[in-house]
This record gives sequence, C-alpha cells and structure tokens, in this order.
Amino acid sequence: MLHTLEVAALRIWMRMFGMTTALLPFRWPRAFEGSGSSLELVRFMAANRHRRVLVVTDAVLLKLGVLDRILAELDTLGVAHVVFDGVEPNPTVAQIEAGHAVLQAHGCEAILAVGGGSPIDAAKLIGALARNRKPVAKFAGLFRAWRGMLPLYAVPTTAGTGSECTIVAVVTDPVQRRKLPAVDLALMPTAAALDATLMTGLPPHITAATGMDALTHAVEAFVSRNARSKTDAKALEAASLVFRYLERAVADGSDLEARQQMARASHLAGIAFTQAGVGYVHAIAHQFGALYHTPHGLANAIAMPHVLDFSLSHCSHRLARMARHCGIGAEGASDREVALAFIARIRAMNARFGIPQTLSSLRPDDVAAIADAAIAEARFTYAVPRYLRRSAARELVAKMLPPAG
Ligand SMILES: NC(=O)c1ccc[n+]([C@@H]2O[C@H](COP(=O)([O-])OP(=O)(O)OC[C@H]3O[C@@H](n4cnc5c(N)ncnc54)[C@H](O)[C@@H]3O)[C@@H](O)[C@H]2O)c1
Ligand SMILES: [Fe+2]
Repeated sequence: MLHTLEVAALRIWMRMFGMTTALLPFRWPRAFEGSGSSLELVRFMAANRHRRVLVVTDAVLLKLGVLDRILAELDTLGVAHVVFDGVEPNPTVAQIEAGHAVLQAHGCEAILAVGGGSPIDAAKLIGALARNRKPVAKFAGLFRAWRGMLPLYAVPTTAGTGSECTIVAVVTDPVQRRKLPAVDLALMPTAAALDATLMTGLPPHITAATGMDALTHAVEAFVSRNARSKTDAKALEAASLVFRYLERAVADGSDLEARQQMARASHLAGIAFTQAGVGYVHAIAHQFGALYHTPHGLANAIAMPHVLDFSLSHCSHRLARMARHCGIGAEGASDREVALAFIARIRAMNARFGIPQTLSSLRPDDVAAIADAAIAEARFTYAVPRYLRRSAARELVAKMLPPAG
C-alpha cells in the first residue's frame, strides 16, 4: 500500500518535473560534423576571439597524439593555450580543482575539451568553478551553477556519453565513494565537433562499452515517462545507428563511416536524454563507478538487460516500437515478444563484445547499499517506467553478482 501511494506521488511529481523540463530554454551547441571538423571548431573558437584557452584532456590522449593537429591549429591561429591533462576516467573533485588552478594561473577565458566524457565533464565543472566560487561537490544536483560556465568547446573522442550536448557533468567524490551528477542549463557547451578521425585509435573494448552507453541513453530516454515526440525521434535514430554501426566500429576501428555514425548516434542520444532523462541503468551504473571504478559504459552495458527485464511489464510497447524501428523482432509478433527480442539482442551484442552479464568486482556485502543509493538517485529526477521497491532493487542488483567460486 505504502509503495502504491509513494509511486502515485512520485508519478505526479515527475509529471510536473517533465512539464517544467519541457519549457526549459535549451541552447544546443553549434555542431560541426565530419572528418577534420575538430579543426573547424578551433577556427570557430578563434573567430569568437578567445585569446587564452585551457585545453582539458587526459594523459593517454595527449601521449597518443590525438590532440596534435588541434594544438597545431591553435598555434597557427595565434590562440594562446595551456594544456591540462590531469583528468582520469570517472574524474574526481581533486582533478577538477587541479584543472581550475591551472586555468586561474594562466588567466584562461575559454575552455577546449578534447576527450571522452571524463575530460568533457571535468571541463564543464572547471568552467563552472571559474564563475561560481564554491566547493565542486556543491554543483551536484539540479541548477547549482547559477553564475554560468566559461565558454566551452567540446571534441568528443569516444562515442559515448554525448556530454558535448548535455547539461550534465558527473564528478566522483572518492571520500564518500559517490558519483555526483550535476545538472544545469549552464553546463551546455557552446559548440562541439564530431570528428571520427580522432576516434580510430580507441581500443575495441572501450569502443564497445562507450557505444553501449550511447545505446543506454537512447533506450532510457525512450522508455522515460517524460519522453516526447522530439526526444523520441532522436532516441530512435540513435538506437538504429548503434545497431547498424557499433559492431563495425568495434571490429575495425579505422572504419571512418562506422566511427562517424557512432559519433552521431552518441550525440543524438545525448540530446534525447538531456531532455527526457535516464533511468535505473544509470542509477545503478553510477554506484558501480563510484565503488569499483567500473568504466561507465561497461557498467551500463551489464546493468541494462537486467533493468529492462524488470521494467518490461511497464514499457513493452515502447521497447517494441524502438525494436521495430531498428529492424528487430519477427513480423506479426506481439509487443512483448518483440520487446523480449530487443533485450535478447542487447545480451547477444554484449556477449559478442565480451561484456559479461555480471560484474566481477561486485561484492555481496555492497548489494543493499548499491540498491538503496540507486533508488535515491533516481527518485525525484528519473521518470522510470516502473519503480523499484527496496527488496526488488536488491534482487535486481544481486543478479549482477559474479558466479560464486
Ligand atoms: N555529461 C554527461 O552527459 C555524461 C553522460 C554519460 C556519462 N558521463 C560520464 O562520462 C565519463 C565516461 O566517459 P567515457 O565513457 O567517454 O570515457 P573516458 O572519457 O573516461 O575515457 C575512457 C578511456 O578511453 C580513452 N580514450 C578516449 N578517447 C580515446 C581515443 N580516441 N583513442 C584512444 N583512447 C581514448 C581515455 O584515455 C580513457 O582511458 C564517466 O565519468 C561518466 O559518468 C557523462
Ligand atoms: Fe551514460
């Protein structure tokens, strides 16, 4: 009874939340697309008269030479820049503070982020810190960057998070072992470049995991109760691109067409979820990331089939619609059958990528805390199709325990 009343109250709250989000004045980034578009973005940035820029990236990308042409273009255009490469996967509060210190020391007035979701998210919070003087953890939650963010130009090198077109930045607090999502319209980049040439060196396992993150965004946005026709169109296109191109990008990293289409998929899925929200897959994946440092895409890929099994009874028509759009499911089959085929397809794709059904680092002692934290994260902001009770959440997370022995 209590659960029924709580669910009814949450549904009313989420409906109001959804109506409010629909009215928000999203300012989408100007998008440059195609091989070499990252250099167009740099020229656009220079045309906007930014004369001193902080380049935020990670040490791996810098060493691989992924930024070489971008840095050379900045030199050619006479844009002074300093590189901060201290971001690691699942960036921490300390890394953001370190980046901000470099920004201040060099008086930078704009930021160019080149990397996966980690450098882009870190850049957002560095830029927010420059405008809002407060501890990084205080940006967590809704609309906490009142004074805005420095102009941010984003070049994603994974396809992936869609961070280049979302109002989200996720930071890890290693002391409390929590991942804290910050959500604010100000965290939207000014412009972004989807440049497949920077992605050819992404190893197959990261290509697979980050691609599954993009698929998770599309699926969670589509089954969200706050989905609208605008977000549906993006989510459907993103999902069909993932089913068409992800396996190709994993099999041959230098397949530029597959890489470019995956970059597009990730971008579209980002636009969809930044408006319609995500769901329990992300709520659980964030706990895995915080506790065990699990890469974000991998955590989503493992959690997604389990969460969809649970949600199926409340969203089979939506899953079936997405599946049919992606050419999945037999003709004449019922919605439930097609939705089941969709989940099976995700499991099969995971299996081909070597992504397990369980998380090897998950400990039985942590299951309850993970389930509770996931419920808490989702409660007021994720318009999930079916709400989890505590007991069901624990059962769901326990399904991801590695086989004993
Ligand atoms: N802001 C958002 O909307 C949003 C959405 C989803 C996830 N996230 C966050 O983004 C982070 C994850 O980002 P991610 O999955 O893109 O991975 P990442 O940025 O953490 O990068 C993963 C690894 O891939 C390497 N790499 C990246 N691009 C490469 C390339 N082109 N060639 C070779 N190696 C490359 C990096 O060096 C790193 O070692 C998490 O913190 C997650 O919570 C943010
Ligand atoms: Fe994600």
